Amino acid sequence: MAISRVVLFLFFWNAILWTPARSDLVILKLDRKIDLTSQTVRVTSSLKIENAGPSTASKVLLAFPSHQARNIAELRSFYREGKSKVSSDQLRVELVEPQGMPPDLTFYAVQLQKDLRRGEILNLDVLAVFTHSLKPFPEQISQTEVQLVVFQDSAYYLSPYVVKVQSLGVKLPSKNVESFTKFENSKLIDSEIKYGPYENLPVFSYTPIVVHFESSSPFAVAQELLREIEISHWGNVQVTEHYKLVHGGAHNKGGFSRFDYQSRPFASESSSFRHLLARLPPRAHSVYYRDEIGNVSTSHLRGDSRKTELVIEPRYPMFGGWKTSFTIGYGLPLKDFLFQSEGRRLLNISFGCPIEDVVVDDLIVKVVLPEGSKDFYSSVPFSTKQWEEIKYSHLDIAGRPVLVLKKTNVVPEHNEPFLVYYRFNNLSLLREPLMLVSGFFLLFVAYIVFMHVDMSISKSSASYISKLQWDEVQTSLQHVLSVINRCLAVHGKLEASLRDLSRTGDVRSCKAARKAADSVFKELLKELNLALGSLQSSPQAAQIWPKVEELVAKERELQERLILKHSSVVDSYEKKHSGREIENRIAAHEQKLVALRHEVDDLIEILDELC
Ligand SMILES: *[C@@H]1O[C@H](CO)[C@@H](O)[C@H](O)[C@H]1NC(C)=O
Ligand SMILES: *[C@@H]1O[C@H](CO)[C@@H](O)[C@H](O)[C@H]1NC(C)=O
Repeated sequence: MAISRVVLFLFFWNAILWTPARSDLVILKLDRKIDLTSQTVRVTSSLKIENAGPSTASKVLLAFPSHQARNIAELRSFYREGKSKVSSDQLRVELVEPQGMPPDLTFYAVQLQKDLRRGEILNLDVLAVFTHSLKPFPEQISQTEVQLVVFQDSAYYLSPYVVKVQSLGVKLPSKNVESFTKFENSKLIDSEIKYGPYENLPVFSYTPIVVHFESSSPFAVAQELLREIEISHWGNVQVTEHYKLVHGGAHNKGGFSRFDYQSRPFASESSSFRHLLARLPPRAHSVYYRDEIGNVSTSHLRGDSRKTELVIEPRYPMFGGWKTSFTIGYGLPLKDFLFQSEGRRLLNISFGCPIEDVVVDDLIVKVVLPEGSKDFYSSVPFSTKQWEEIKYSHLDIAGRPVLVLKKTNVVPEHNEPFLVYYRFNNLSLLREPLMLVSGFFLLFVAYIVFMHVDMSISKSSASYISKLQWDEVQTSLQHVLSVINRCLAVHGKLEASLRDLSRTGDVRSCKAARKAADSVFKELLKELNLALGSLQSSPQAAQIWPKVEELVAKERELQERLILKHSSVVDSYEKKHSGREIENRIAAHEQKLVALRHEVDDLIEILDELC
């Protein structure tokens, strides 16, 4: 395999050309570990740094090739005290553009909490998380082939400082390594490739390495994730998450064979995935998972007092390049997430994606505050783009303020709590009930006025109008349902006529029943179209419209089937077929009718609840 073809990017520059930018820092010892066991690449570096120069240092520079820096999702730095103890204080890391540095490099500066004086030594840990850094190669595989990926980096730590001693370990998911760049002091031990130690390397030393290895971890990438967190002071935080997910691994070629898939259900080397695990907060309730078709009942929920886990099972296994869209939703107890802080309300809730091991390209978090909230702001432990929106729902007058936070390149490290502060007057809480009461009062007054004088009703309140519109929708919906119910009653009569026929053998009266039914169906159809027309013209009916359409279509199908069955039975009687023959002729109809009746009943039940 021509591995050189995938080496897209090589660095060639002479380290001698670049003198350290007046830096007095020297890295005495450096250990770097690259973890390639999942789709996100995690690089941890432990640096022992000495200030060998005369001036004090307040920051440490980190350098990355720019093509790599583009994939950085998170960069963190900590002081390390003693052998392995990591202090919890995260240091500030920011993007900088120092002068006189080589091109095509991106620099970050770790701001030290205390200046490093001449001769002092400092231990620093740096964690860098990269997304989209493992490239499938080959780019297409068949369903039963294993997925191979390529990773590129440098055997030397790219540094603006001289490094006295350094070593690198590359941890792979398994021992199955296709190839790796062999180099002085390099070896593969089990599933880890070791490079080094290397001594006394000048600044910006770089030597490319390429590792080509087997990776069967699911490359679940949410190209878009919209999380909506809606606070209701009546006791609930409602979270709704809309996912557009793709398997970002090697594309599936030659299509999907369920037979192959099912005959090797445990083929561990397959990189497809069947389910995803979402870790929801404890006490999550009313959890649902649905896709474009509807609720997916194959998901399961398990949990105890400390956690809730939702196993999400898409309708088909996910292969490389395949996409799926779905929504999960859950309610959370308000008191677990909303607190008081110096006269303000404080929401403290997790920011990132609750599904394990998912990379999110574009994450939008919308925090919907109760109507009447003021002076809101957020505190997020990483940089986000922010703006404000307004959301209207049923009884809102001014709408609910929405704080929108957007972040790209989100990894599990971002699953951290963030805070939203806002002010809220408790009286606002009574606004909606008061509005309802006054709405009805208005209606009452309007009614009285209307009865006495022909005067138009005051229509100043938006919510009052929307309430009226919703009433209209309900009335039209009731009308539709009543027509459907009358259709179903006619179905009953047709069935009864068939039962009479089998008892009396009176074909004529059975045909008469059919004729009567036909004309009633015709009348009902006219009425139904009228009711549907008025329902469809209301914008508020948009949400329920698909269900109504489905119900109408199913009833139509049911009606047609029933008529087919009816004709078929009457025909058999005229031809004097035996009972057994008749049963055989209508068996398929019968089965379909039972299924359709169930579907119609379910839909009626759902829509009935809205009336
Ligand atoms: C889907 O599930 C949710 C939660 O269990 C439920 O409230 C909703 O009515 C269901 N919808 C349908 C169409 O079954
Ligand atoms: C937010 O919640 C986390 C735990 O979920 C807690 O560690 C943190 O201290 C809280 N922050 C504030 C400001 O209350």
